[in-house]
Formats: sequence, C-alpha cells, structure tokens
Amino acid sequence: MTNAQVTVHTEAVIDRIEPEVHGHFSEHLGRCIYDGVWRSGNDDEDGYRDDVVSLLEDLEMPVLRWPGGCFADDYHWEDGVGPVEDRPRRRNLFWAQDTDERPEESNEFGTDEFLQLCERLDTEPYLAANVGSGDPQEAADWVEYCNYEGDTELADRRRENGHEDGYDVKFWGLGNENWGCGGRMSPEQYAREYRRFATYVGTMDNLMLDRDLELIACGFEDHEWNRRFMEEVGNSAWGQAFPLDHLTLHHYYGRTMSVVDDETGADDYEGMLVEALEMDNHIERIAAAVDAVATTRDIGIIIDEWGTWHTEAVSENGLEQPGTALDALSAAAVLDVFNHHSDVMTMSNIAQTVNVLQCLVETDGDDAWARPTYRVFDLYAPHKGNDAVTTSVDAPTRDVEGEDDDLPLVGASASLGDGGTFLTLTNLDVREGQTVEVALEGVDVDAADVDAEVLFADAELDVAVTADNADEFTAEELDVSVEDGKLVADLDPATVAAVSVE
Ligand code: AHR
Repeated sequence: MTNAQVTVHTEAVIDRIEPEVHGHFSEHLGRCIYDGVWRSGNDDEDGYRDDVVSLLEDLEMPVLRWPGGCFADDYHWEDGVGPVEDRPRRRNLFWAQDTDERPEESNEFGTDEFLQLCERLDTEPYLAANVGSGDPQEAADWVEYCNYEGDTELADRRRENGHEDGYDVKFWGLGNENWGCGGRMSPEQYAREYRRFATYVGTMDNLMLDRDLELIACGFEDHEWNRRFMEEVGNSAWGQAFPLDHLTLHHYYGRTMSVVDDETGADDYEGMLVEALEMDNHIERIAAAVDAVATTRDIGIIIDEWGTWHTEAVSENGLEQPGTALDALSAAAVLDVFNHHSDVMTMSNIAQTVNVLQCLVETDGDDAWARPTYRVFDLYAPHKGNDAVTTSVDAPTRDVEGEDDDLPLVGASASLGDGGTFLTLTNLDVREGQTVEVALEGVDVDAADVDAEVLFADAELDVAVTADNADEFTAEELDVSVEDGKLVADLDPATVAAVSVE
C-alpha cells in the first residue's frame, strides 16, 4: 500500500454539476438502436426492448443524444415518421446496422420512437440535425414537427402520428464532426453554414415564443480550429453575435483489448488512462478558445462523445468491444475531471448507450446486462445537481512508457448537496493498493455520519463482462474510519469508491 492525501476545500465552490454531464449518446450504428433499445416485429413491447429500457430507467439518464454521430449528417428525419410501412429503406453511408448485412437503414425507429423512448425514460432528448447533407429548412421543419403547438401541416402531422402535444425538445445540435464526416469543412466554412442553420432554427424558436431552445455547435480537438470557428461564427452585419449556447468536442482513447487475458495489460491500460485524462487539458483549452472570442455571451462546453475506443471496435462489427472494469475505471477518472470543470461543463454524452463502444448496457439474444461502466455512473449519481468543490490530491504518480504525462495514481472529486458532502475516489493503480486520507476542511467528521461503497474490490479486472458474471461487478460496502478528524480508507488496486458524509 502507498499513501495518498486528499483535501476537500468545502468553501471553494466551483459551480453546480449540471445533471446533463452524466448524459448518453445513441446512434444508428451496429446494434445500438436495432437489437439494442429496439427490436423489429416486437409487438408485445411496442418495439422497445423492455429489459434494456428498464436498465436505462434505473440509471435516471438526464439526456440522450440521437441519431448520430456521423449518421446525423446523412439522416433526413422525414424518412422516419408516419406509418412504418410507408417509410423508405435507405443506405446508411457510415455504419453497418447489423454485423452481417449491408449498411442500410429501415427507418423503423424514427423521431417519434426516439422521443417516446425519452418520455418513458424521463430523459431530455438532444437531437443532432443534418448540416453536412441537409439544409436549414429541413432542420427548422424538424423543430416545427417536434415542438410547434400551432395549426400548421407539420404540427398536424405530429398529431396524426400520435402525439398531440409538442415534445418540447430543448437541445438541438447543428451538425456532427463537421471538420470530418460531417462535410470536412474548414472552421470558417462550418461557421458560415452553422450561422445559416442557426438563423432558421433560432427564428423558429422565436416564433414559438418560449425561446427555450439551446443550440449546440461542433468543435474539434484542435483548439486553433475552435478559435477560428468562434471568430467567424460571431461575425454579422449587425455586429458580433454568437448564435450558440454550447460548443462541443469529442475525445476517444483506446488500446487493443490485450488488457483482457494478457500479462502486459497493465502497461496498455496505464497509457490509455493517461490519454483519457487529456480530457482535462481539452476542456481548459476549448473553454479558453471560446472565452477569448465570445466576450458578450456565456457559452457552455459539451463533450458529446467520449470514452474508450479499442482497436477491436471496427465498422464491420458495429464498433463492438469487450466491456471490462478497467474501462469503467477510466470513466470514473473522466467523470472526476468533469466535476473539476463544472464552471464550464454543461453536458457530456458517453459513447454509446447500448452495445457500441463503451456502452453501459450490452445485449446478447434475449439477455441484457449492465457493464461495469454502468456501475460507475450509478455510483457517481449523487454528484448530479450538487455543487462541485475544489479537491486537491497529493498522491504518487507513475511514469508511463510512450506518454509525455505521468499517470496520477489517485483521482478524486467532491460535491455538496442536500445529503451533505459526496466524494468519489479512484485508485487508478492496477498494481498496488492505496491508503487514502481525506481532510474535509471545516467539517467535523463523525464516523456515524459516513457511508461508503466500493466497486471492483473483488472483481477480476481482465475479463470481459457477460450476462453470467455481470453481478460480480456491483458495489460493496467500504470500511472508512475517522482518524484525527480525517477519513481513512484502504483502496484495493483498480477500485472506485464513493463516500457520503452527512
Ligand atoms: O461514436 C462513433 C463515431 O465516432 C460517431 O459517429 C462520430 O461522431 C465519431 O467519430
């Protein structure tokens, strides 16, 4: 065991942790939608898979992004509304929808199916409109179909399709990765396109009088690109105006899954984790790019795709890869990073909800189960809506071959809410345990007020999780003592703990 000291500066509030920071992303890709949340010809359950929906309900997802991803910039929403038998079958330019078939889209699952799923899950929908191959009229029409309460053909069409009231969709993304699969645009080109789309979608918002749409633009991991986008998007004949509420970026990281069943797994895993933690730097730099230009508007940062992307996940297998506790540990580390940046972070969406990449739920035939990453989101849930406070960590680090940055071996974040202080701690070291001492500044800690749980203490780290062993990855009680006013816990290698102090 080595030692780590954590100090929670309870007076140093950073900002509210927006619940949407624990958000999710689902795309028409592989088995995420079809066979994931939806099953063709499944009349008993109105098409939805009850087992998957029930796991997602328990997770209390705050927001779900759809329909892509790259798919969004090849998607025409009108193909997916109205009687299913009349919906056209289209090619899917980017992704195979089923591992053995051609990349085609049946359009069986469309806007109403998605928005009714969100209603069932009590989740805020986030729709990504087609900028790459679509036009502003199509995007504004989609808003009208979804939200408009008046007497127009599109609002009536929604009513005929079974939804009398508007769905009140608040989050609207304009494009996806428009520097890449969404049109390979330069920042200036995307900024001009974006402005045009935002004019029509924004005017539709004014027409509906409530002005509660939030418009989301795509950024990039190249922060000079972001700065140039911001410069251009703010240009208008009427002076500087920034027609966006949020700017996003995507950050993936991965290795081969040699972490499974391989003695060299620890090295691979540590390198992957260093890259996951680059999230911290990306958030700082994109926020700086926004602030340097948009001095007249507060614009939030969204990481609307993130997580592990291992070499096993390829287009041909619908981006499927094994789920392990090690992946889940990286999610814990990244959720801590988001808490540290709660002053700028307005949302994040891990990729992708079911079966694809670092999914939270996996299915095989009639089985559906929670992956270890699901357990981390569940454990971290009390942070949602709390006020994040500054947390400092003094812990050993490890030099990782091939990486410029060292790996900090302990991660932590803390927040304050009605339930008291909530603290998450990760021992990122897969080789050694850590004794962690936590000082809560200004809090008189009584052992009787402390509740703690830990994930993965007895779990095998290097196995893929399946229906048969998924229950071995649930949380257990953790012993936390109080010594000299500090919380003290022994964390086994590669474990994630949550501590509540009333
Ligand atoms: O999540 C898979 C793909 O990754 C998305 O479609 C795209 O936006 C990103 O490159």
